[in-house]
Amino acid sequence: MDTIEAILKRRSVRAFDGTEVSRAVLDRLIEAAGAAPSPYNSQPWHFHVATGATRDAICEVTALSTVHLQEYLDVLPPSALKRAEQFFASLGSAPVIIVVSVPVSDDTLSSINTYMSTGGAIENLMLAACDEGLGCCNLTFAFWVRDKLAALLGIADDREIISLVLVGHPAETPVDPGRRDDIATFVE
Ligand SMILES: Cc1cc2nc3c(=O)[nH]c(=O)nc-3n(C[C@H](O)[C@H](O)[C@H](O)COP(=O)(O)O)c2cc1C
Repeated sequence: MDTIEAILKRRSVRAFDGTEVSRAVLDRLIEAAGAAPSPYNSQPWHFHVATGATRDAICEVTALSTVHLQEYLDVLPPSALKRAEQFFASLGSAPVIIVVSVPVSDDTLSSINTYMSTGGAIENLMLAACDEGLGCCNLTFAFWVRDKLAALLGIADDREIISLVLVGHPAETPVDPGRRDDIATFVE
Protein backbone atom coordinates (compact mmCIF):
# COMPACT_ATOMS: atom_id res chain seq x y z
CA MET A 1 0.00 0.00 0.00
CA ASP A 2 1.45 3.40 -0.83
CA THR A 3 1.58 6.15 1.75
CA ILE A 4 -1.33 8.28 0.53
CA GLU A 5 -3.51 5.21 0.07
CA ALA A 6 -2.84 4.14 3.67
CA ILE A 7 -3.52 7.66 4.97
CA LEU A 8 -6.83 7.90 3.12
CA LYS A 9 -7.96 4.31 3.80
CA ARG A 10 -7.22 4.23 7.53
CA ARG A 11 -10.34 4.16 9.66
CA SER A 12 -10.80 3.83 13.38
CA VAL A 13 -11.67 0.20 14.08
CA ARG A 14 -13.50 -0.55 17.34
CA ALA A 15 -14.37 -4.25 16.87
CA PHE A 16 -11.79 -7.01 16.43
CA ASP A 17 -11.96 -10.76 15.86
CA GLY A 18 -9.65 -11.37 18.81
CA THR A 19 -7.00 -13.33 16.91
CA GLU A 20 -3.46 -12.67 18.03
CA VAL A 21 -0.96 -10.38 16.34
CA SER A 22 2.57 -11.76 16.07
CA ARG A 23 5.48 -10.24 17.95
CA ALA A 24 7.27 -9.62 14.63
CA VAL A 25 4.36 -7.49 13.40
CA LEU A 26 4.15 -5.60 16.70
CA ASP A 27 7.89 -4.88 16.46
CA ARG A 28 7.33 -3.35 13.00
CA LEU A 29 4.51 -1.15 14.34
CA ILE A 30 6.69 0.09 17.18
CA GLU A 31 9.56 0.76 14.77
CA ALA A 32 7.20 2.87 12.61
CA ALA A 33 5.98 4.75 15.69
CA GLY A 34 9.51 5.48 16.83
CA ALA A 35 10.45 6.85 13.40
CA ALA A 36 8.24 9.92 13.99
CA PRO A 37 9.88 13.33 14.25
CA SER A 38 10.29 15.09 17.60
CA PRO A 39 12.03 18.28 18.78
CA TYR A 40 15.79 17.68 19.08
CA ASN A 41 14.93 14.03 18.42
CA SER A 42 13.72 13.86 22.03
CA GLN A 43 11.39 10.88 21.34
CA PRO A 44 9.25 11.54 24.43
CA TRP A 45 6.87 8.60 23.88
CA HIS A 46 6.81 5.16 25.42
CA PHE A 47 4.62 2.31 24.20
CA HIS A 48 3.53 -0.28 26.76
CA VAL A 49 2.39 -3.14 24.53
CA ALA A 50 -0.09 -5.28 26.45
CA THR A 51 -1.31 -8.72 25.41
CA GLY A 52 -2.59 -11.78 27.31
CA ALA A 53 -3.30 -11.40 31.02
CA THR A 54 -2.13 -7.78 31.13
CA ARG A 55 -4.48 -6.88 28.27
CA ASP A 56 -7.35 -8.48 30.23
CA ALA A 57 -6.36 -6.58 33.37
CA ILE A 58 -6.44 -3.30 31.40
CA CYS A 59 -10.01 -4.08 30.33
CA GLU A 60 -10.97 -4.62 33.98
CA VAL A 61 -9.67 -1.13 34.72
CA THR A 62 -11.25 0.58 31.70
CA ALA A 63 -14.58 -1.03 32.60
CA LEU A 64 -14.48 1.21 35.68
CA SER A 65 -14.79 4.21 33.33
CA THR A 66 -18.48 3.44 33.23
CA VAL A 67 -19.12 5.34 36.45
CA HIS A 68 -17.85 8.50 34.77
CA LEU A 69 -20.43 8.09 32.01
CA GLN A 70 -23.06 9.21 34.50
CA GLU A 71 -21.91 12.74 33.72
CA TYR A 72 -23.13 12.23 30.15
CA LEU A 73 -26.53 10.75 30.93
CA ASP A 74 -28.22 13.92 29.72
CA VAL A 75 -26.62 13.75 26.27
CA LEU A 76 -26.30 10.00 25.70
CA PRO A 77 -29.38 7.91 24.88
CA PRO A 78 -29.65 4.71 27.00
CA SER A 79 -28.71 2.50 24.03
CA ALA A 80 -25.49 4.46 23.47
CA LEU A 81 -24.72 4.26 27.16
CA LYS A 82 -25.14 0.47 27.11
CA ARG A 83 -22.87 0.19 24.06
CA ALA A 84 -20.26 2.38 25.73
CA GLU A 85 -20.35 0.22 28.87
CA GLN A 86 -19.84 -2.93 26.82
CA PHE A 87 -17.03 -1.33 24.84
CA PHE A 88 -15.19 -0.10 27.94
CA ALA A 89 -15.27 -3.61 29.40
CA SER A 90 -14.01 -5.41 26.28
CA LEU A 91 -12.18 -2.73 24.26
CA GLY A 92 -13.69 -4.27 21.17
CA SER A 93 -11.94 -7.63 21.85
CA ALA A 94 -8.67 -6.08 20.70
CA PRO A 95 -5.91 -8.65 21.39
CA VAL A 96 -3.32 -5.89 21.75
CA ILE A 97 -3.66 -2.69 23.76
CA ILE A 98 -0.81 -0.23 23.43
CA VAL A 99 -0.75 2.20 26.34
CA VAL A 100 1.06 5.40 25.42
CA SER A 101 2.87 7.35 28.11
CA VAL A 102 4.84 10.61 27.98
CA PRO A 103 6.76 12.70 30.51
CA VAL A 104 4.64 15.01 32.67
CA SER A 105 5.45 18.68 32.21
CA ASP A 106 3.99 21.91 33.57
CA ASP A 107 5.71 23.90 30.81
CA THR A 108 3.33 24.75 27.97
CA LEU A 109 5.82 24.57 25.11
CA SER A 110 7.27 21.34 26.40
CA SER A 111 3.76 19.83 26.61
CA ILE A 112 2.92 21.00 23.09
CA ASN A 113 6.12 19.40 21.79
CA THR A 114 5.43 16.17 23.61
CA TYR A 115 1.81 15.79 22.58
CA MET A 116 2.46 16.79 18.96
CA SER A 117 5.38 14.40 18.61
CA THR A 118 3.52 11.53 20.22
CA GLY A 119 0.40 12.13 18.11
CA GLY A 120 2.61 11.78 15.05
CA ALA A 121 4.13 8.59 16.42
CA ILE A 122 0.68 7.12 17.06
CA GLU A 123 -0.42 7.97 13.52
CA ASN A 124 2.73 6.29 12.15
CA LEU A 125 1.86 3.21 14.18
CA MET A 126 -1.72 3.16 12.93
CA LEU A 127 -0.67 3.60 9.30
CA ALA A 128 1.85 0.78 9.65
CA ALA A 129 -0.94 -1.36 11.13
CA CYS A 130 -3.13 -0.49 8.15
CA ASP A 131 -0.31 -1.64 5.89
CA GLU A 132 -0.25 -4.99 7.77
CA GLY A 133 -4.01 -5.43 7.23
CA LEU A 134 -4.70 -4.63 10.89
CA GLY A 135 -7.14 -2.18 12.43
CA CYS A 136 -6.51 0.36 15.20
CA CYS A 137 -8.28 2.90 17.31
CA ASN A 138 -6.62 5.66 19.30
CA LEU A 139 -8.59 6.26 22.52
CA THR A 140 -8.25 8.99 25.09
CA PHE A 141 -11.32 8.09 27.17
CA ALA A 142 -9.09 6.12 29.56
CA PHE A 143 -8.19 9.54 30.97
CA TRP A 144 -10.58 8.86 33.85
CA VAL A 145 -8.76 5.73 34.96
CA ARG A 146 -5.24 6.54 33.88
CA ASP A 147 -3.87 6.53 37.43
CA LYS A 148 -5.16 3.00 37.91
CA LEU A 149 -3.68 1.96 34.56
CA ALA A 150 -0.33 3.49 35.52
CA ALA A 151 -0.35 1.50 38.77
CA LEU A 152 -1.17 -1.69 36.86
CA LEU A 153 1.68 -1.17 34.39
CA GLY A 154 4.19 0.20 36.90
CA ILE A 155 4.42 3.57 35.15
CA ALA A 156 6.23 6.10 37.36
CA ASP A 157 4.67 9.37 38.58
CA ASP A 158 6.84 11.46 36.27
CA ARG A 159 4.98 10.06 33.24
CA GLU A 160 1.33 10.31 32.21
CA ILE A 161 -0.79 8.03 30.09
CA ILE A 162 -2.27 9.98 27.19
CA SER A 163 -3.83 7.28 25.06
CA LEU A 164 -4.64 3.63 24.50
CA VAL A 165 -4.26 2.29 20.97
CA LEU A 166 -6.28 -0.83 20.22
CA VAL A 167 -4.68 -3.12 17.64
CA GLY A 168 -6.04 -6.28 16.04
CA HIS A 169 -7.67 -7.93 13.07
CA PRO A 170 -10.82 -5.97 12.17
CA ALA A 171 -14.24 -7.51 12.74
CA GLU A 172 -15.96 -4.50 11.20
CA THR A 173 -15.58 -2.26 8.18
CA PRO A 174 -16.11 1.27 9.49
CA VAL A 175 -17.87 3.80 7.33
CA ASP A 176 -15.85 6.85 6.37
CA PRO A 177 -17.25 9.55 8.69
CA GLY A 178 -16.21 12.23 6.19
CA ARG A 179 -14.04 15.26 6.58
CA ARG A 180 -14.51 19.02 6.64
CA ASP A 181 -13.52 20.81 3.46
CA ASP A 182 -12.68 24.15 5.09
CA ILE A 183 -9.49 23.28 6.92
CA ALA A 184 -7.04 25.34 4.89
CA THR A 185 -6.75 28.99 4.03
CA PHE A 186 -4.35 29.75 1.20
CA VAL A 187 -2.65 33.08 1.49
CA GLU A 188 -0.19 34.74 -0.89
C1 LIG B 1 -6.72 12.06 20.08
C2 LIG B 1 -7.84 11.12 19.69
C3 LIG B 1 -8.67 10.62 20.67
C4 LIG B 1 -9.69 9.73 20.34
N1 LIG B 1 -10.43 9.18 21.35
C5 LIG B 1 -11.38 8.28 21.05
C6 LIG B 1 -12.12 7.67 22.10
O1 LIG B 1 -11.90 7.93 23.28
N2 LIG B 1 -13.08 6.76 21.75
C7 LIG B 1 -13.31 6.42 20.44
O2 LIG B 1 -14.18 5.58 20.18
N3 LIG B 1 -12.61 6.99 19.42
C8 LIG B 1 -11.65 7.90 19.70
N4 LIG B 1 -10.91 8.45 18.69
C9 LIG B 1 -11.16 8.10 17.27
C10 LIG B 1 -11.99 9.18 16.59
O3 LIG B 1 -13.32 9.10 17.01
C11 LIG B 1 -11.88 9.00 15.05
O4 LIG B 1 -10.54 9.20 14.65
C12 LIG B 1 -12.75 10.01 14.27
O5 LIG B 1 -14.11 9.79 14.53
C13 LIG B 1 -12.51 9.94 12.76
O6 LIG B 1 -12.75 8.63 12.28
P1 LIG B 1 -11.61 7.83 11.49
O7 LIG B 1 -10.45 7.65 12.44
O8 LIG B 1 -12.21 6.52 11.09
O9 LIG B 1 -11.22 8.65 10.31
C14 LIG B 1 -9.89 9.36 18.99
C15 LIG B 1 -9.05 9.88 18.00
C16 LIG B 1 -8.04 10.74 18.35
C17 LIG B 1 -7.10 11.26 17.27
